[in-house]
Amino acid sequence: MTKQQGPWGKLAPMKLSSRARLLSALEGKPVDRPPVWLMRQAGRYLPGYQSIRQKHSFWELCHAPQLCTQAAMEPMQRFALDAAIVFSDILVIPQALGMHVNFDGNHGPKMTKPLKEAAELASWNVEKLLEALAFVPAAVRHLREALGEERGLLGFAGAPWTLLAYMLEGHADKNFAVARSMLHAQPEFAHKAMDMLADILMAYLEAQCEAGADAVQLFDSWGGLLNAEDYSRFALPPIQKVAKALTHKNRRLILFVRDGQHLLPLLADSGCQGISLDWRIPFEQAAAQLPNHCLQGNVDPALLLASPEVVRTETRKLLAAMKARGHFHRCIVNLGHGIFPQTQPECVRALCEEVALAA
Ligand code: CP3
Repeated sequence: MTKQQGPWGKLAPMKLSSRARLLSALEGKPVDRPPVWLMRQAGRYLPGYQSIRQKHSFWELCHAPQLCTQAAMEPMQRFALDAAIVFSDILVIPQALGMHVNFDGNHGPKMTKPLKEAAELASWNVEKLLEALAFVPAAVRHLREALGEERGLLGFAGAPWTLLAYMLEGHADKNFAVARSMLHAQPEFAHKAMDMLADILMAYLEAQCEAGADAVQLFDSWGGLLNAEDYSRFALPPIQKVAKALTHKNRRLILFVRDGQHLLPLLADSGCQGISLDWRIPFEQAAAQLPNHCLQGNVDPALLLASPEVVRTETRKLLAAMKARGHFHRCIVNLGHGIFPQTQPECVRALCEEVALAA
């Protein structure tokens, strides 16, 4: 129990600290209201982020813990968010594996030499890789210091399939035809690569938890491209492996699968306590299908391009659906995918305030 503080001002009295609210939601304990944080909350729609990027390249930023903290704290100082997310990217893993990942230009990431054959996996060394990735747990530790003990902190990584999809395709693509065909042309190669990625993720996410993350989110941004059969054959087993190892250590995991409506029954067996819902899934439907999971989501990020009034109305509707689960039991308010760069900060403020008023 804590005193009111931070950007909540005169909003509802805080019965729980933000951190306790996040942990309680994930553990199925009572909450005064759902916690709120937003995917990609620290990015390009904020002026402070833009000014950091005028002076530093994206990779310079990712590798400098104090700059990561500055970026991650900007939304925390502006809005009544319950949790920060470490500033990083899912593509730090391919980069640490020796791939050149380039963010120049406006067409998303590009890799100069995509992964081609199983023989290349022989050079993947989990221990060396963790050393190369030590800047990420360092950023988590630095952020925890700045954040204090009362607000939540999330770490993250890409899910094995999404990471492999980028590594095989070499860039973002709406179909990922090369990556998907590889699952069928060379299934052993695909299984082996994702199993190795699971070993990497277990150690990498554990390092983020040790450094101060309260929970970690796996982003399976391209999971929805797979049908249920391929998802359960290829993408799910390595996620289960990661989830099993982390829950064994009492860590908490949230799994986000974009466009994964058809995969919801499978996600129930992922081993992750939290399931983050794409904006196209009706919340009530997911609540019926996943009664024992903490459900996170799922405001359409495009709503934040409308007006603060529209955002408030839609947030109230989502809160009503969440309340219908039994006084906000196992719910986290978030978006159904990452925030758009053209988002107006006033709309983010409206969303957070509306959630704070629900207590
Ligand atoms: O607050 C936060 O959430 C910031 C941390 C964060 C970033 N990327 C920073 C970033 C997180 C959680 C990510 C996850 C991420 N990265 C995903 C999963 C979520 C999703 O959107 O599906 C994916 C697929 C990536 C890969 C990636 N990184 C892409 C496709 C791009 C370019 C397009 C884009 O979305 O901006 C990036 C670059 C990137 N990662 C930027 C930021 C702030 C923009 C870099 C810049 O131009 O300054």
